[in-house]
Amino acid sequence: MPFTIAIDGPAASGKGTIARALAQALGFQHLDTGLLYRAVGALGGDPVAAARGLAPGDLARDDLRTAEAGQAASRVAAIPEVRAALVDFQRRFARAEPGAVLDGRDIGTVICPEAELKLYVTASDDVRARRRALELQADETTILAELRERDARDAARDVAPMRPAEDALLLDTSDMSIEQAVARAIAAARRAGA
Ligand code: DC
Repeated sequence: MPFTIAIDGPAASGKGTIARALAQALGFQHLDTGLLYRAVGALGGDPVAAARGLAPGDLARDDLRTAEAGQAASRVAAIPEVRAALVDFQRRFARAEPGAVLDGRDIGTVICPEAELKLYVTASDDVRARRRALELQADETTILAELRERDARDAARDVAPMRPAEDALLLDTSDMSIEQAVARAIAAARRAGA
């Protein structure tokens, strides 16, 4: 039986880093679902058509990590038909052998409510802005405003809003190093039977 780990949380909370490290430690597949929405936003034109026709090459563009791509992703992610077009791919991926780690906003609540382990990763706004500003070599105040705007939109939308699943384990990484956060996640996965 494949083992699915769902990791959700706000922008720059550390969920992507944790998801990658967890997948590597367990020998699982990893899907950064934010990349799907970033690719749809970056393609331009009709976002519903872009989501329905999304191809693997679209995820390999080198301009998907920017703050602008994040904002465009957050806007197209609020469109129900865009989300619907991406559900099957994510659910199939979640059942990859021997297991899969998916990170996003609605993995534990909508995509994989049956996941064997659900984590909700958070960190304070200031810590998240500092991390992302370092990563993108950008101004921290501008990044803070961008993250807050995106989180507010992602949490307030009608369809699949960002929120922890009821049975998610909360992991606040504000005062943790990457190594500590990853160690906590691996311990949780082992406890859950991975
Ligand atoms: O994880 P990220 O920052 O790359 O995600 C970019 C945007 O995509 C995010 O602001 C909201 C959207 N998203 C979503 O709605 N659902 C997901 N499962 C993943 C991302």
